[in-house]
Amino acid sequence: MIDAQPHSSTTPRVAALDQWIRTRFVDLNTRLEDLYAARPNRSQVDGVGDDVKAQLLEEGRDLIVPLIEEGNTDEGFDRAFELLGNVGYYMAACRRHEITEPSRERTSPLVEASTLALHLGASLGTAPRFVTSHMETYNRAVNGVYRTFTHAPAEKLFLDHNTRGAFAYMRAADALGRIHPMGVSHPATLDLLVHARDALRDAHEMNIELGQKLDVDDFFFRVRPYYKPYRVGSQEYRGANAGDFAAFNQIDMLLGLCSPTDPSYSQIVVEKFPYLTPDEQRRLHESFRHPSVLDALLAQSEHADEPWFPTHTAAFLEVCEAHGRAAEHHHEGLVVPFIKRPSEQIPEEHLAGITASGPPLDLLLRSLRGLVDRRLAAERDDLPTRHDDIATLRGLIT
Ligand code: HEM
Repeated sequence: MIDAQPHSSTTPRVAALDQWIRTRFVDLNTRLEDLYAARPNRSQVDGVGDDVKAQLLEEGRDLIVPLIEEGNTDEGFDRAFELLGNVGYYMAACRRHEITEPSRERTSPLVEASTLALHLGASLGTAPRFVTSHMETYNRAVNGVYRTFTHAPAEKLFLDHNTRGAFAYMRAADALGRIHPMGVSHPATLDLLVHARDALRDAHEMNIELGQKLDVDDFFFRVRPYYKPYRVGSQEYRGANAGDFAAFNQIDMLLGLCSPTDPSYSQIVVEKFPYLTPDEQRRLHESFRHPSVLDALLAQSEHADEPWFPTHTAAFLEVCEAHGRAAEHHHEGLVVPFIKRPSEQIPEEHLAGITASGPPLDLLLRSLRGLVDRRLAAERDDLPTRHDDIATLRGLIT
């Protein structure tokens, strides 16, 4: 039993939902997962555990209705965002258990939850659904335990590593974001590049450990299905994905490996905004405005013989290499073994919504591979990468 102490400013109704989400809700989801796991076809959840599903649906609804009456009590961003997360957890679980199914409905049958989520999302400036920050950087632990959907060890393993990895990416983005006001030749820029490189290596190591420890079936069948798209009111919102924070794209653009003027890249980034906290949205907006370190170094090539140039350039190339390697591992060491391969084993009718954003898997994989190749500055003739510019830079210091 979790000692779920509510925040001092939380109203009793908000606290009641939070307490339920942290206890009974987790038990009910876990019971359902165990029922699915015992069946020959684990993807077949329709008609399984209907009594448990009814309890989940009703108990959640009973706690949400009084919150609509209460209205926005304006307890500040953190509290309202946490409440949106709790309502979102409930809606995502209903979608996972196919109590709701967006392709079957034109509007969400969870009328009360949709009403509350829309109100909260509009007041916060985010999509009205649970997003990655609810699971990671805004997931308040109570007595050492943070919010999860189930008791599955795989879920905790996944979130622990994702959260730590996200913070490592944020450290790298923070360091890189401090370079442009000082310029690439400033002595402190070298420190910032080294910090960014080390943080990216930490993120990479975290992902390697995740790939080694995570059980493929547990992740695929017990964890991932909670992150599917679902409807709020009449609109379907894409699912949560571990990449929904600004740092990854800040790093791409601050390094110069991806360009804000490459439409297929900026399209991917722009789509992300509603799924970020306003603070993260602001960071991402800024990275569209700042010049890249790669362009700044190339612009200073006339100083290639000065002592700072080869040192700073070598450090910059190491940052790029660390970013590219981590991205390559995300694709080959996580996406392929944990999503692509298991998807090939299950019947096609259960593939819908397998990815967070919803496009067919082969299309998504191609687009993700394009991102990896940009980050690796690989030689590609079908999309813009900085392969030639990186080679020019390397040539200036060898
Ligand atoms: C088992 C672990 C993981 C798997 C299977 C996985 C899989 C995926 C998939 C399938 C996507 C595409 C999203 C979509 O459906 O549209 C994605 C996107 C993304 N993931 Fe992961 N992921 C994992 C862990 C992580 C971790 C730990 C991080 C970083 C800390 C991360 C960072 C990203 C980023 C930044 C994106 C956005 C696309 C990009 O910019 O490359 N992922 N991931």
